Amino acid sequence: MCGIVGYVGSRPVVDLLIGGLRRLEYRGYDSTGVAFFSGQTLQVRKSEGKLENVEKLLQADATRFADARSGIGHTRWATHGKPTTQNAHPHEVGDVVLVHNGIIENYQDIKAELARHGRHPRSETDSELFGFLVQDELDAGREFVEAMRRAFGKIRGQASIVAMCRREPGRVVGVRNGSPLVVARDPSGGVLFASDAQPVLEYTRDVIFLENGDVAVGDDSGLRILELATGREVRREATRLDWSPERLDKGGYPHYMLKEIHEQPVALIDTLNALLDRAKTDAFPMAPQPGVELLAKARELVLVACGTSYHAALLGKYWIESLARLPVQVELASEFRYRDPVVGADSVVLGISQSGETADTLAVIRDMRARGVPTLGVTNVRGSTLAREAQAVFYTSAGPEIGVAATKTFLSQCLAMLLFAGSLGVKRNPAHRARVEALFHQLVKLPHLLESALEDQGPLTQAIRNACGSVQEAKGFFFIGRGTSYPVALEGALKLKEIAYIHAEGYAAGELKHGPIAMIDDQMIVVVLAPRDAWRDKTISNLEEVKSRGARILGVGASADESLRSLCDFWVPVPDAMDESLLPFVLTPVMQLLSYELACLKGTDVDKPRNLAKSVTVE
Ligand code: F6R
Repeated sequence: MCGIVGYVGSRPVVDLLIGGLRRLEYRGYDSTGVAFFSGQTLQVRKSEGKLENVEKLLQADATRFADARSGIGHTRWATHGKPTTQNAHPHEVGDVVLVHNGIIENYQDIKAELARHGRHPRSETDSELFGFLVQDELDAGREFVEAMRRAFGKIRGQASIVAMCRREPGRVVGVRNGSPLVVARDPSGGVLFASDAQPVLEYTRDVIFLENGDVAVGDDSGLRILELATGREVRREATRLDWSPERLDKGGYPHYMLKEIHEQPVALIDTLNALLDRAKTDAFPMAPQPGVELLAKARELVLVACGTSYHAALLGKYWIESLARLPVQVELASEFRYRDPVVGADSVVLGISQSGETADTLAVIRDMRARGVPTLGVTNVRGSTLAREAQAVFYTSAGPEIGVAATKTFLSQCLAMLLFAGSLGVKRNPAHRARVEALFHQLVKLPHLLESALEDQGPLTQAIRNACGSVQEAKGFFFIGRGTSYPVALEGALKLKEIAYIHAEGYAAGELKHGPIAMIDDQMIVVVLAPRDAWRDKTISNLEEVKSRGARILGVGASADESLRSLCDFWVPVPDAMDESLLPFVLTPVMQLLSYELACLKGTDVDKPRNLAKSVTVE
């Protein structure tokens, strides 16, 4: 949550900050701000709402600020205090100006202490209070870096803060303690700071992922990294990233989300190449990496995740149980972390998180490690906290995902689950070897099949557009499916709520009659996922139940399934004749495009839906 960017060096800083914040807007976008030194004068411009508002504020003075060379910026996802201009970062307190990502847990104590001395912050945020703590240290005669270190010692919680000081205008200091923070050396001289690598990639691909408890100092003499606790200098190696800046742009699509839906075939190919040993020809040959051994030892897997990643975990359960005959529990991280779960002696806990920064998922991994339980991670972001804190990590290779709604990262997580299922299946379940081998041969063709299915004027995309025109006024949507179509139905409902703000529920088709069917009338659209698989006929019985109560049916099924088609008011055909384990990979893009088209018809902000952020670093 919240995006931070900072710079000191030889480039004009205002443009750099704005460009960086644009890349980080997915982390939060309810208010934005920048602070920079123009000569010796500190300038702060901030506003509620999106980045454009701050750009407008800066336009009037653009030439005046062309000389500015050091600054910090922030895009906010409100936790403490409403998304107003006053609460927007940067916060200025005395000589200090700062931006913050995370939560200061003891903010009420700090606030009360300040009030006792007649000092009152201007905002409702926890962040501004940190400025008072630093100013006190400066007033006690400390230099800026030392003042930051000491002030940090007085706060509790997960926080990363980047700050500047009027007394030392050419210096930017960033502290990572929980929320992610990266730094990089600008090849043309200077130091970059950001919440993730995306703003930095335009300038360099060599990025340092700071450790918790690192203080990064950027100034004339370059970059130094110190230990927060001792102030001693430490060495941190840079990681070379393979994400090119071109991949961060919209590439001609109207929205990042649509671009990312269409990038799914490539995301699948890249993830296959990253996780498998492609030099081998046997089925599901996992590329050697530390996690493989740990996975093979598990006698039970506990999959832990939130939101869309939880749906990938649910699919993982179907595949791993069926192909590998290994028991799998699937848990919402936000619940699991506060239970007192029983985890078997031979269990492995696997956290799934595209960002690798989701607070609840990370809390489970930390807790399990503390109990001595082996932990694994699946994430799309190299150097993310999950990657560093789980005992071993598997990377999906979806590339950067800018749209807030997860699309290609979800399908890549699903692929990781299926690869785990297949590779464990080969080892653990010789009886199913022939099935697993046949599945593998189809799997490697899947990206091409998906690419043709997603063709812009193809039957699938046309059918979705036609259906959306007729269903956009519906009172609400039910998404139903059985077996592996059930998690896809949950994902379909989540996507529709998330980007089109339309009420939607996902249900296991067999559950409707246990209550929700009372909601059905002719204002309701029921999206029925009934591809040709073991569950199709049972799902069609459930379709009949809702149809006879007036629901309008949007059916999604095999292109040649005429009998299903004849029962539906609207029809979206998906490719036929594939192993049923692969069906979620063609059904999911239908869910994504359906939500996307409905959101466009409603005119919502598809890439930045209200109230959301891409990386949920608060619990
Ligand atoms: C929905 C969505 C969220 C995330 C959830 C977990 O489109 O993106 O539901 O899936 O916040 O995020 P990660 O995967 O980063 O842990």
